[in-house]
Amino acid sequence: MGLVRRWFRTEGVMALERGWDDPTAAREWDAQGDEINPTRAEQLDILASVLAGRVRAGDWILDLGAGSGKVESLLFERIPGIRVVGVDNSSAMLDLARARLQPYGDRFLAVPGDVACLSRIALPTPNWRAVIAVQSLHHLAADEMRSVYGWVYAHLQPGGLFLLLDRLQVVSEATFWLMRSAWLRLDHLHGTAGASTEGATFAEHRAALAEEGDQPQSLETHLEWLKSLGFEVVVLHLHGNRGLLAAAKQLFV
Ligand SMILES: C[S@@+](CC[C@H](N)C(=O)[O-])C[C@H]1O[C@@H](n2cnc3c(N)ncnc32)[C@H](O)[C@@H]1O
Repeated sequence: MGLVRRWFRTEGVMALERGWDDPTAAREWDAQGDEINPTRAEQLDILASVLAGRVRAGDWILDLGAGSGKVESLLFERIPGIRVVGVDNSSAMLDLARARLQPYGDRFLAVPGDVACLSRIALPTPNWRAVIAVQSLHHLAADEMRSVYGWVYAHLQPGGLFLLLDRLQVVSEATFWLMRSAWLRLDHLHGTAGASTEGATFAEHRAALAEEGDQPQSLETHLEWLKSLGFEVVVLHLHGNRGLLAAAKQLFV
């Protein structure tokens, strides 16, 4: 298996074959940079900036699918005094997160659990100022993802914020080819290999997602689901099939 293919597999296939719980799969995800997703760094930078404007020292933030704690490292450096509860169903990923975030002491709490069953997980606070999900919810089935959104809306404080950074569905052959031009441009700019990891044709792209068990939803679907719950939603950043959405719960509901 070539290196590029292996990178692609770290986002999902490897998880399916060996599970995110496999320590090798977890370490490989953790070790990779932005080789398959050069948009990630900019989107994370925007996410941290927006969050910084909405939370205060002492606030708890909930991270759904926190993984190895890379996002928390960034947030703790950028936003003084915040605390994060990271839920993940991979103990291998949470072990990496605990090790990475050990210097931040009790600002990080790792909670093992399936984000598709949030109501069954014991969390330290019932209501949240902010909830984030970074490259994690596309692993859920559509009905699970929709019910996660319902849970998030119900458990956000008035005025609270949900930030979703994730892979989006490529909805058609025509849009695949348009996105492919954009992926190739990114690879040219950054020396990355994102285009090849997305598949050389729309059929290949869909087959790879199916093989991985990834179930990204379209931008329109995310917007419809979130708005139907009462969220006010803005697309903060969109590049091809990678999006950062901010969903705000109104202050008076
Ligand atoms: C691609 S990694 C992203 C990790 C982290 N959010 C980041 O961006 O660095 C996806 C993570 O989602 C977690 N995950 C996938 N499905 C999950 C589920 N149903 N419940 C909890 N965590 C899940 C995996 O274990 C993995 O840690």
